[in-house]
Amino acid sequence: MLTRNTGFPRFARNEVTFMRTPFIAGNWKMHKTIDEAVALVTELRALLEGLEGIEVAVCPPFPALEAVRQALTGSSIRLGAQNMHWEEAGAFTGEVSPRMLVGLCDCVIIGHSERRTHFGETDEMVNRKLRAALAHGLTPIVCVGENLEQNRTGKTEAVVGAQVRAAFAGVGAEEARQVVIAYEPIWAIGTGVPAYGPDANRIVRDAIRAVLAQLYGDEVAQAIRVQYGGSVTPANIAEFMQEPEIDGALVGGASLRAADFAAIVRQGLGAKMGRG
Ligand code: 13P
Repeated sequence: MLTRNTGFPRFARNEVTFMRTPFIAGNWKMHKTIDEAVALVTELRALLEGLEGIEVAVCPPFPALEAVRQALTGSSIRLGAQNMHWEEAGAFTGEVSPRMLVGLCDCVIIGHSERRTHFGETDEMVNRKLRAALAHGLTPIVCVGENLEQNRTGKTEAVVGAQVRAAFAGVGAEEARQVVIAYEPIWAIGTGVPAYGPDANRIVRDAIRAVLAQLYGDEVAQAIRVQYGGSVTPANIAEFMQEPEIDGALVGGASLRAADFAAIVRQGLGAKMGRG
């Protein structure tokens, strides 16, 4: 039986806080026209003006990236794509290459479970995309997570650990530091049923950071940021951010409303700083 880690030593929580800058990103998925995207980010920008101590990113659909980039001029809000191909150019109808994203945005979501499930992305493709993003100086947000059946049959740690190992194949330690991992249990995505904070913390520690430590050693494993994703709202963000292993969130539905996303960012930062 897992308990909330209220007994976690405060100094340790703060050490972790200072070592890894919190990072909350919004994945807009297939929502928002160009005009709607500009309106959303303009509102969000005003709500988050002057906030420090946390990184924030929005990831609109491809057609809105340029307009959102312009709407964010002079803002510290980062901009990300939701996917990309690993090749630089070629006969890949409908795809977008890393070279096309450079100068347009600085992050890219890779291996989201919706891409794995609906578009056949394999661990090998995720690895190629991760390496391509790093080679082009883009911050990859690589998604991992188990489905409901895997969760119910006790396979979560094995599944997530294997996804992390596969994603990082051939990635060197210095590059690995640039990667952000999003732990998104598939059963928690869009269901209104988030994971329990201490459970997510345990998976991040025992499956994600444990594998990173095997690959790169403890210091690098402790430096890599890990977000939680799946039904995050203003009401539950603190539960995740107060966990020592969780450095941020990848937010879907709630990131489509500026007030909700801004509340998630502010409350998330407050919880991470021990004011939650
Ligand atoms: P929801 O926040 O809508 O559950 O989506 C999570 C997600 O998939 C973010 O990438």
